[in-house]
Amino acid sequence: MPWNPDQYHKFQAARSAPFEDVAALVTVRDGLRAVDLGCGTGELTRKLADRLPRCTMLGLDNSPEMLAKAAPHARDGVRFELGSVEDFAAGGETYDLVFSHATLHWIPNHPQLFPALLARVRAGGQFVVQMPSNFNHIAQRLVVDIALEEPFHTWLGGFVRYSPVLPIDDYAALLFAAGFENITVFEKIYPQVHETSDGVAEFTKGSVLVPYLERLGERGEDFMQAYRQRLRNHMHGSPVFYTFRRIIIAGTRG
Ligand SMILES: C[S@@+](CC[C@H](N)C(=O)[O-])C[C@H]1O[C@@H](n2cnc3c(N)ncnc32)[C@H](O)[C@@H]1O
Repeated sequence: MPWNPDQYHKFQAARSAPFEDVAALVTVRDGLRAVDLGCGTGELTRKLADRLPRCTMLGLDNSPEMLAKAAPHARDGVRFELGSVEDFAAGGETYDLVFSHATLHWIPNHPQLFPALLARVRAGGQFVVQMPSNFNHIAQRLVVDIALEEPFHTWLGGFVRYSPVLPIDDYAALLFAAGFENITVFEKIYPQVHETSDGVAEFTKGSVLVPYLERLGERGEDFMQAYRQRLRNHMHGSPVFYTFRRIIIAGTRG
């Protein structure tokens, strides 16, 4: 199962909740050249572009399925392209705004990745990103626990994914080291209320579970069953309150 736009959209409100906090950190100027890394289905890319007068916005994503949904959000000045964040980080022209919403936690080695991305911000330009930092929540720790147990460990060929997200202080330090000013880095809880823990499992299915379900194919439902069962033991009753933690990072190149 690669990225599934329909599964992802089931929780659109919860997934786009941090957008306003992140967008509020973007300094609106005329004619910005901007890029949205991991633009997904493109709604938020377009929403941001519509707030930046006469900007040119490039939405980049490495999932053809997500980009197919993004296509209708293209307009004059807003385009979408298939491409990886890693290739973008390898170098090229600079931008007035490097933006990313809920994507960079999919890419490893942040001590190396972030300086490379920051290098693509031009003088006076901004770097503004948001990433989940929820990896210590039981809903995510259980995914790793189950992946390490049989028969899943064998079915997954030993695959386990650990979050590459660093403590928030480290991002502030990386921005400072790259010569950034007006550094803003904070963590915020975006609460979710689900009828039962199965709702949390369904939310996780559209994000953290994607690489596991992709590898498991038809055996994915066995993993989901084990996950739902285990989650019920930890998140009882109804409703279930899920504290979803995210990091927001912004800075301006001096
Ligand atoms: C959680 S979605 C976020 C989409 C959108 N930014 C939003 O907030 O709705 C993560 C997106 O990152 C993309 N992605 C993951 N790894 C990537 C990579 N290495 N390069 C480019 N895109 C990537 C996925 O295809 C997916 O569309």
